[in-house]
Amino acid sequence: MAERIACLPGDGIGPEVMAEALRVLATLPVDVEVVELPFGGAAIDVSGEPLPPETLAACREAAAVLLGAVGGPRWEGRAVRPEGGLLELRQALDVYANLRPAVHGDVDVLVVRELVGGLYFGERGVRDDGTVFDTCEYHPSQVERVARRAFELAQARSRRLVSVDKANVLETSRLWRRVVSDLASEYPDVELRHALVDSFAIEVALTPETLDVVVTENMFGDILSDLASGVAGGLGLAASASLGDSGPGIFEPVHGSAPDIAGAGTANPAAMIRSLALALEHALGRRDLAEAVGAAVDHARLAAPTPDQGGAATTTEFGDAVLASLEHRLTTEERTWATTPS
Ligand code: NAI
Ligand code: MG
Repeated sequence: MAERIACLPGDGIGPEVMAEALRVLATLPVDVEVVELPFGGAAIDVSGEPLPPETLAACREAAAVLLGAVGGPRWEGRAVRPEGGLLELRQALDVYANLRPAVHGDVDVLVVRELVGGLYFGERGVRDDGTVFDTCEYHPSQVERVARRAFELAQARSRRLVSVDKANVLETSRLWRRVVSDLASEYPDVELRHALVDSFAIEVALTPETLDVVVTENMFGDILSDLASGVAGGLGLAASASLGDSGPGIFEPVHGSAPDIAGAGTANPAAMIRSLALALEHALGRRDLAEAVGAAVDHARLAAPTPDQGGAATTTEFGDAVLASLEHRLTTEERTWATTPS
């Protein structure tokens, strides 16, 4: 039976880069059914809410959620915002581990960001005197589950893990450090290091090639993973996977809806196509196809660079280059499979 993929193109360049990812998916030897659903500003325009119940229901039943990007000036300053749908969807699917690979040249960093806790989900409000507040809270179990993911991912890579916090100031960071330290004995093959977020940002900026797996809380991870993608070729290349314990993961580029270039046909679809590759690996168990797609994207970056990479290729031309490279790769690999004795 075909696995179902819920596809949420969203706003701005979201639909533009999604179209290229779907073209790639259509050429792959996988049995999937793609269901397209309204989300973000586009959904607000139609139904008044960024995450309509039908969209959420379809996501829950899917094997994976492919998401473009949401937001834009049209919906800014309104009570109901497209970005609210994003937080709601992450929380509803309980995708607590956000994997953000930054791969470029000799840089190969994997930031694992806690995604459904901390400052972005804590109590917030306005006091009588006009003071506005957001609160950062973590339960030990929230730290433990994302830290376990990070240890496991480190085991499958170079077995080096950096846990980032601000334990010299924050209570939640002291909890974070305690829980991560306690887990270390269960993963004796992983070399664990703790780092403070401010000085660690310098490491990401200046010596990213020395880093491998990084685990951190929600807001630090948001900032550090954008920084890591910046030093690894920019937002146009950065993909992410958000995973829970059961149920579908969300696979989306790190970038937003880029209103400044939306409609121009020049958005780089690499981040979206790499997000598709992460879905192939983590949701469909097809690491072979994920690697083929990743290699085809690397080829296209050289053959048809988009303006953000200093080139002049359009979104579609980049997609064409990925498809051409992939076609060659798949036929070569199918030949290899056919001749490999089993
Ligand atoms: P952004 O990521 O949309 O754009 C930042 C800069 O990077 C812009 O100059 C843009 O043109 C460029 N850029 C981003 N993706 C690109 C691509 N694929 N190819 C070429 N250039 C690319 O971030 P910004 O401008 O801060 O936010 C714009 C809107 O997107 C806002 O409404 C924001 O709330 C929303 N947003 C949504 C996210 C999501 O859907 N996950 C994440 C971040 C922002
Ligand atoms: Mg961000």
